[in-house]
Amino acid sequence: MAAVTIKSEREIQLMREAGRLLARVHEKLSQSIRPGISTKEIDTVCENLIRECGCTPNFLHYEGYPASVCVSVNEEVVHGIPSDDRILQEGDIVSLDTGLIYQGYHSDAARTYGVGQISTEAQKLIDVTRESFFRGIEFARAGKHLHDISNAIAGYVIPNGYGIVHDLVGHGIGTSLHEAPYIPNYPQRRRGIRLKAGMTLAIEPMINLGTGEVEWLEDGWTVVTEDRLLSAHYENTVLITDGEPEILTLL
Ligand code: MF3
Ligand code: CO
Repeated sequence: MAAVTIKSEREIQLMREAGRLLARVHEKLSQSIRPGISTKEIDTVCENLIRECGCTPNFLHYEGYPASVCVSVNEEVVHGIPSDDRILQEGDIVSLDTGLIYQGYHSDAARTYGVGQISTEAQKLIDVTRESFFRGIEFARAGKHLHDISNAIAGYVIPNGYGIVHDLVGHGIGTSLHEAPYIPNYPQRRRGIRLKAGMTLAIEPMINLGTGEVEWLEDGWTVVTEDRLLSAHYENTVLITDGEPEILTLL
């Protein structure tokens, strides 16, 4: 795999702006979540929000992906394709994963939301998934190793009894959406690369209520849980520094 890039101070400024704009897109997009909206309408809102701030959707046409946001409902883990026929219902959970390009620099972030009232079981899955990200980034600092992050995420999720998706991982990010390194969310025996200030990483636990095993649907994109139980996703683009990590996609 290619070497992990270290961003210059100028590049870090651009990554910060790409992240800040994406955080605002997510915040505004979250307001469109309600029973009765189609996943296609969510995509239209998302694309407009990204273009309104002078940015480009990085998912659109990525390896042929047809939309600006992945909208994954209930047992869909990631890469759900927006559709006029898919209408959100009260009690669903929905993961929105989107990103943008600002002056050549990419940001990437995902959130899972409840639609109206959801079960306590669904809410706990969402909360544990989000918290696992924060457990992971306690180790996202110069001098730690990449797999310290993976082990911290897994070490929090496993005692909660959930399944960790192995077939999809986080990634470096910068002038491309996906850069080295891969960032697994499950336990690692090797420690992985040593983290350095100026690395930018998209850390993204994908956590299932039941098994961590997943399948790809016939559309070639949508990833679903093998047992069709719920899945949640939480992702931010993070800057490694000598101290606390900077979460670029949170306001
Ligand atoms: N957010 C996804 C990731 O982190 C990227 C989605 S790829 C797309 O890897 F093609 F669906 F856009
Ligand atoms: Co990502």
